[in-house]
Amino acid sequence: IKPVTLSTLKQMKTDKDKITILTSYDATFTNVMNVAGVEAILVGDSLGMLVQGQDSTLPVTIEDMCYHTAAVKRGNTNAFIVSDMSFMSYSKPEQALDNAAKLMQAGANMVKLEGGSWLADTIKLLSQRGIPVCAHLGLTPQSVHKLGGYKVQGKSQETADLLLQESLELVEAGADMLLYECIPTALGKSLTEAVPVPTIGIGAGHYTDGQVLVLHDMIGLNLGHTPRFVKNFLIDGRNITEAFEAYVKEVKDMTFPGAEHGFK
Ligand code: KIV
Ligand code: NA
Repeated sequence: IKPVTLSTLKQMKTDKDKITILTSYDATFTNVMNVAGVEAILVGDSLGMLVQGQDSTLPVTIEDMCYHTAAVKRGNTNAFIVSDMSFMSYSKPEQALDNAAKLMQAGANMVKLEGGSWLADTIKLLSQRGIPVCAHLGLTPQSVHKLGGYKVQGKSQETADLLLQESLELVEAGADMLLYECIPTALGKSLTEAVPVPTIGIGAGHYTDGQVLVLHDMIGLNLGHTPRFVKNFLIDGRNITEAFEAYVKEVKDMTFPGAEHGFK
């Protein structure tokens, strides 16, 4: 099987072939995701909660991210690996470059950073040095204390306009992918139409170029509160591989996410 590259993902946007992403933190699940046909794997800092038992993503370090990225890389055959930069590992451009380099050397194909316009200089630097960047906008969990909780973003005209402006700025700076978390479905649609790079949504409706779900959420292992955008695919007697295959199929044929998983 041919490896998935950034060019593959960009072509998929053009072809309106939905991009499927799941989070993984180890070699075994990554291997099964490859079998199921997921195009990209996100080594998310959600591992802070799901693997380490923390109550947010803030305690996760860049060393933790490198450890899990290396494990995912060893289990991977052909998926595109995106790794999260941990809280405060990219607060200054030069520092971001050093830390992004560590993730790339551990096996990442792209790094993901949370934030808006303030990231433009950082993204420009990483991009110029040959590091693909995904910008994560909307609900940015590393800012949970500033946001005052895990809340839907971009609900007012003003904040929606700001998201569009910041998205265009970050693409101009060199971002190759944009990820939107918890924004209204209609905004997910207009942003996807407005930007030239692939958009990935989680709680952003079915119009984005691709979808991502957290592994534990989509196999029913979500412990506390289950967010509205989550669906358990490990049902109807499926095994884990079949659950991943069902996710891929439902994203491709646009039955997931349904209206009930989105925000107005
Ligand atoms: O860390 C993570 O799992 C993520 C997804 C929720 C997008 O960033
Ligand atoms: Na994350």
